[in-house]
Amino acid sequence: MKFKVRFEPEGKEVQVDRGKTLLEAAVQAGVDISTSCGGKGTCKKCRVVAEGPVDSSPDKRLDPKLAEQGYVLACQSYVAGDVVVRVPEEARAKGHQILRKHEAHELQRLSPLVSTVEVRLDPPTIVDNIGDLERLARALGKEGRLDMPLSLLKELPSALRKGRQLKVTSAADDVGGWVVAIRPGDDGGAGAALDIGTTTVVLSLVDLGSGEVLATASDYNRQARAGDDVISRIAHAEEGGLEELQELILKTVDQLIREARADAGGAEVCALSVAGNTTMVHLFLGLDPRNIRYEPYIPVTNLPPVVKGKDLGLGIRSEAPVYFLPGRASFVGGDITADILSSRMHEREELSMLIDVGTNGEVAVGNKEFIVACSTSAGPAFEGGEVAAGMRATEGAVEKVSIPSSLEPTLEVIGGRSPLGICGSGLIDLVAQMFLRGLVDKKGRVQGTDPVRTRFTMEGGEYLLQLRGEGHREIAVSDSDLANILRTKAAVYAGCSVLLSAVDKGFEDLGRVYIAGGFGNYIDVENAILIGLLPDIPRDRFKFIGNAALAGAVEALLSRERREESMRVHEDMTYLELSTSQRFFDEFSSASFLPHTDLERFPSVARRMRR
Ligand code: FES
Repeated sequence: MKFKVRFEPEGKEVQVDRGKTLLEAAVQAGVDISTSCGGKGTCKKCRVVAEGPVDSSPDKRLDPKLAEQGYVLACQSYVAGDVVVRVPEEARAKGHQILRKHEAHELQRLSPLVSTVEVRLDPPTIVDNIGDLERLARALGKEGRLDMPLSLLKELPSALRKGRQLKVTSAADDVGGWVVAIRPGDDGGAGAALDIGTTTVVLSLVDLGSGEVLATASDYNRQARAGDDVISRIAHAEEGGLEELQELILKTVDQLIREARADAGGAEVCALSVAGNTTMVHLFLGLDPRNIRYEPYIPVTNLPPVVKGKDLGLGIRSEAPVYFLPGRASFVGGDITADILSSRMHEREELSMLIDVGTNGEVAVGNKEFIVACSTSAGPAFEGGEVAAGMRATEGAVEKVSIPSSLEPTLEVIGGRSPLGICGSGLIDLVAQMFLRGLVDKKGRVQGTDPVRTRFTMEGGEYLLQLRGEGHREIAVSDSDLANILRTKAAVYAGCSVLLSAVDKGFEDLGRVYIAGGFGNYIDVENAILIGLLPDIPRDRFKFIGNAALAGAVEALLSRERREESMRVHEDMTYLELSTSQRFFDEFSSASFLPHTDLERFPSVARRMRR
């Protein structure tokens, strides 16, 4: 039996079978709902108001006050009649602030993934009677067989007879050298560089002749409905969802291609360069990622072959080469190679560290002699997961917090509106400022210093960043939220620390610390040091390099030298597995305090605390 489910305020309506969840109905209706835990009922992000018969699992974690107002978890509520569902703003993932900017490096010489040449062909005669393909190969100066797909070969006779001038677009020799397009007057089109993140996806459309970025488009990864982190996505794939996940990421990318092409006047995409973590690349290609999850953590490949547009069904030329930056291991993928490539840390004498805090926290240390990298499984706390009031950096998210001595917090909110929740940069500020004002102890437990804004229940303390009233909702952070934030920051710091000790160095030896990734660009370094996320070293050594994975993908799109360089990074990089490292666990435990159990590592914080 089918029932009607209508989603407000869009007014979208779908018919679903009895027993489907409201979340499944939302997916069917194309309504976006945040689903950090992938529908397991643990994140509470999918709160909606349902009017009509739904069987809702009695969920103790849903605030009783919200339950009284008709809120249910969309993933735990089953349709039992016609229902109207109101999706509140904080349960949506729109109006995003995704970092698209990156540092562009001047490339000495452009040698893109595809290039277009104009050839002039002599007409055939009774004496010069070689075949059309051989005539083209001769005009291109190629010896032997010309690698041309059958579909293009079928077009060749008419193309040749339309005129003697012909533009031929071919893949670069280092990726296979086949003919990508052949038409009289074809302009060769553009190329695209893609950064596939677990949370966000960014695409730049690039003029292959000049290297100029024509347009950039970004969105959230539609796979997020299967969970915020790579492990949830792998689990979903294992449970039969591989095809669905591939389709979701291909749809996300296709939409970005459409948007970027529209912005750039319709330029055709003749090549695609992709940087992504190992799991995202597997899902993009439809490769089974299950072995990434289990010891000894083996991917299908760290060096995916070049495929063609038609293998993926993307809105690019069917013969366009799709190139992947090489990864190093299951949890250090092509996105980190792209970060390193773009930072140039592997070309310098000085020792550098690169930190990419996304849904996972990847860290690399090295110089022109060596690179060591690891992944810290930091968790999604800084991307809106694992914290009840956490949200992505979308409109309505608190992105900056300051708490003066009066204890009256000042908030900066994306979009300048009434706050709905807190994003990663806001959480770092909040914990740092709470710590500074004695509102939280070094173990991350809320203290009763401000009786107006603290509340204690059987489950522990809560700090009310925003009080309910005057059209404002209450925004609270609990002891368990703080524990998740501390776990995340401790994992990143411990990863950095263990990598350095693996090469017999300390933080003081670092000439530079590159902070890459969308999240990094918005954080306050001083507050990040205060909570012990970043090391306490001279501030001028930190360098924010924006979306370096995208920058690396652009470089690989445009230059053969940079593609070769990325292979050198791949070959020279050593992967350090932390999940079995006792040292990591020791460091992690010591770092699970504010800022750290060893205050000597944070002298500037110790000084501030004494003051
Ligand atoms: Fe419903 Fe997490 S609680 S998706």
